[in-house]
Amino acid sequence: MDSGFVDLHVHLLPGVDDGPPDLDATLELAGLEVADGVVAATATPHVASVDVAELPWRVAEVNAALAKAHIPLVVEAGGELGVRGVPRLSAEELELIAHGPADARWILLEAPLDGAMRTLHGAADQLRAAGYGIVLAHPERCLPLFDDDMRGLMRELERGSLAQVSSSSLLGLHGIRARRNAARILAGGHAGLLASDAHGPRRPPCLTAALRAACELGLGVEQARALCADRPRALLQEGLRPLAPASGSSYVAGSDVSVVRRPPFGVAAAPS
Ligand SMILES: [Fe+2]
Repeated sequence: MDSGFVDLHVHLLPGVDDGPPDLDATLELAGLEVADGVVAATATPHVASVDVAELPWRVAEVNAALAKAHIPLVVEAGGELGVRGVPRLSAEELELIAHGPADARWILLEAPLDGAMRTLHGAADQLRAAGYGIVLAHPERCLPLFDDDMRGLMRELERGSLAQVSSSSLLGLHGIRARRNAARILAGGHAGLLASDAHGPRRPPCLTAALRAACELGLGVEQARALCADRPRALLQEGLRPLAPASGSSYVAGSDVSVVRRPPFGVAAAPS
């Protein structure tokens, strides 16, 4: 178990979003995950498409079906939270999609494909203020994050967010700019982890191929493997805390960057 991949972004739940339409399709996708080397995953439906309160029993249903079908994949409940959904969720709902131990809970926040930077930074700040660390899903697909020497992305990283690069981006499925941005994150040492954002057979996991692509960018095999295995596993076991921005941060101006002044977090309090 400890040597396999851990996929922290996959649309695995049946019939809730643009992932598998039914349980059979979920099992098919789970089989693709296992064939790709994944041993554990978080089911991360688009939060706006699902009743968050249903996630625990929906994931339990998937785990039971996986066991019955002898597919060796362990699934934990999560969600891919859109930036506009952050203000709409209660504290209890945020907890249902969060991961990690009580003193280091974190949430998968979707980098918006429409490039709404101000909304992204505002949503991220709101989650940090509630004590959550942030794993930023596919930042390479949010093109304005890369303007001005990746100013927007750096704003997030210096506040403790981790960049989750998608295997499909690295392999060119989302176009040349997303691929170039993914390579830029990896080659610059800014990647926190790789995940699949898989949806089904037409958008499969491809983590093994992404690992190879990362090596072609100059990463060592162990370094690339850690992005698919050790780092995501540690995120589940050890969690992630937000950071206060460094004093003298350069991210205090600009037309689409929220300026937030608040005292340092230190060790973030666990959300209740
Ligand atoms: Fe996704």
